[in-house]
Amino acid sequence: MQIEGCVAFVTGADRGLGAGLLEKLLERGARKVYAGVRKKGGLADGDPRVVPVEIDITNVEQVTRAASNAKDLTLLINNAGLNRTQPVLETNDAEAARAEMEVNYFGTLNMMRAFSPALKTNGGAIINILSILARVALPAMASLSASKAAALRMTEGARAELAPHRVRVISVLPGPIDTEMSRDVPPPKIPVAEAVDAVLAALEGEQDEVYMGAMAQEIAHGLAADRQALHARLLTL
Ligand SMILES: NC(=O)c1ccc[n+]([C@@H]2O[C@H](COP(=O)([O-])OP(=O)(O)OC[C@H]3O[C@@H](n4cnc5c(N)ncnc54)[C@H](OP(=O)(O)O)[C@@H]3O)[C@@H](O)[C@H]2O)c1
Repeated sequence: MQIEGCVAFVTGADRGLGAGLLEKLLERGARKVYAGVRKKGGLADGDPRVVPVEIDITNVEQVTRAASNAKDLTLLINNAGLNRTQPVLETNDAEAARAEMEVNYFGTLNMMRAFSPALKTNGGAIINILSILARVALPAMASLSASKAAALRMTEGARAELAPHRVRVISVLPGPIDTEMSRDVPPPKIPVAEAVDAVLAALEGEQDEVYMGAMAQEIAHGLAADRQALHARLLTL
């Protein structure tokens, strides 16, 4: 899909990867970008093509309103995400698993349900920013992994449902990106600018499941070659 002239909606557009995507979409000639933020005011203003939209993706009412005001959409980037860095059993944050599932799975699903009708009419694409931890559980972040794994399966289902309507659905599975979310993760981390380019390259490429960065690609190869050996290695991290 061509980026020039597209009408995009990016969630979590105020910082991290989302802010980078917003900037790059404008640079690449997007006609309009709806910038989803939980609180208006966090965006650098200026470009008249940016339409700030107050939206918490777990709030169905807000999501429905946003979709009814964005019927010209051709590209949805579900970027908003939550990582509470918790294991699954011995947690110090008993609500983490539910909160991550609400944002990463149900929030993304809310967006896809609400915006699919416009995309079916206009044609276009959805990109879901998932994580390599959708494919493996890093013990210290296993509850995040579960929510991203659920979102990966949901994305596969939506891809099949939307294929007959000329709507492409892409999963992007990054390794660590250099944002606030991974501030406690040791390097190497993918610079935001590189991550942004990889997301937009996915849109122009042909793969529907894209592994971003060396770590994600190594894990994907490890899973294909010897799943058990890879899991044993991850247990030591
Ligand atoms: N950073 C990494 O290492 C890494 C690795 C793999 C995948 N990812 C994925 O990449 C995506 C972007 O993450 P990031 O690294 O840019 O993280 P980030 O800097 O922590 O930004 C997260 C963004 O999501 C928004 N958000 C969180 N909950 C939301 C909700 N309920 N409704 C709407 N927006 C919400 C945040 O809004 P507020 O500003 O209002 O909090 C913020 O804009 C996420 O899906 C993440 O899981 C990141």
